[in-house]
Amino acid sequence: MKTLDDWLSPDEPGVAPLRGRRVFVRADLNVPLDGGRIVDDTRLRASAGSIQRLCAAGAKVILASHLGRPKGKRVSTLSLAPIAPALASLTDLRVSFVSDCVGEDVQRAVERLGNGEVLLLENLRFHPGETENDPDFAGALAELADLYINDAFGTAHRAHASTSGMVAGVEAAAAGDLMLDELSHLSQILEPERPLLCLLGGAKVSDKLGVLQNLAKRADVLAVGGAMAYTFLAAQGKSVGESLVEDERLGDARALMESAEAGECRLLLPSDHRISQSLDGSTESRVVESIPDGWMGVDIGPETANRYAQEVTEARTLLWNGPMGIFEVSAFAEGTETIARAVANSSATTVVGGGDSLAAVNQLGLGNRIDHLSTGGGASLEFVQGLSLPGVEALER
Ligand code: 3PG
Repeated sequence: MKTLDDWLSPDEPGVAPLRGRRVFVRADLNVPLDGGRIVDDTRLRASAGSIQRLCAAGAKVILASHLGRPKGKRVSTLSLAPIAPALASLTDLRVSFVSDCVGEDVQRAVERLGNGEVLLLENLRFHPGETENDPDFAGALAELADLYINDAFGTAHRAHASTSGMVAGVEAAAAGDLMLDELSHLSQILEPERPLLCLLGGAKVSDKLGVLQNLAKRADVLAVGGAMAYTFLAAQGKSVGESLVEDERLGDARALMESAEAGECRLLLPSDHRISQSLDGSTESRVVESIPDGWMGVDIGPETANRYAQEVTEARTLLWNGPMGIFEVSAFAEGTETIARAVANSSATTVVGGGDSLAAVNQLGLGNRIDHLSTGGGASLEFVQGLSLPGVEALER
């Protein structure tokens, strides 16, 4: 796989110098927006480095991303327009915006682009061809540029036109700095110093079942929190009250517990719980070991949080993805906060991924004490299971 470094080194034949070349940069600028205001610009800041290096080398940068899931239609709240001024002030670069990503207006905007300038295209997913990886749409994107950089690690697990299909239509393709940084840090989970602890939380077992099955083959300890723990507890015949349980996954949960027991991996489940009768913190909450009828689990209890935190101190490599409870409600945030502090204090190699876990770590001001904060939630989970990412495969081809 070629990298931006290869292109910027004078020894690389073919694509150097970059001055005046049209470089398509696929970034993941899928940032949370609230009425046009950027709520968290982590992904924007993480993408700035490659763009700045390309512009410094005199390239014409055609920047593209998706935002949300507009399902092939124009959705005004999912326009990338607010990103252009934010990127300009972050980088001190000239960043213009065009209200589509293919077609004549876009071609004209590319023609007007000066060396060292950036043109941000409108949301790729306003066209159905993006997620369908339609060859005509991929060809229209490829026509805009000479060269291609994929820096969208967060979208590398999608085989879409801009992450996969268009690569065959450009002169040369390479990985950007963010992509490379993510791959090298996450590789430490694939070849870990042991013990390897994976802490997985979040709401749905069905979303993470495959991840749990695969990680059970790699990790020494798998600690489960968040609402998905209740499906496992229900599968053990424990009382879980009104907690979220995916009945159709009870068999899978049981099979996973059996295979973990037969293998080398210890699967840890919560032994106490914070429970409430409402999810928004408006009613009383209490800590129990067995959840009575009419109540639901909203966070791991303190005994479980301390037990998991103890595992964190013993791990040499650690991956955390997904909160331990409904941490956006302060009354239910203690479990997630205990884990976040333990991870920040750990001397292990620590990797945190997934929007909610990152938000928890950042809210507590602990971001700079984690070895690697991944900008990719789904992508990082696929990678650490040893699955190949279509966006990376396309660059390798
Ligand atoms: C993400 O936020 O995880 C990435 O931007 C990918 O988005 P997607 O799940 O909508 O493909």
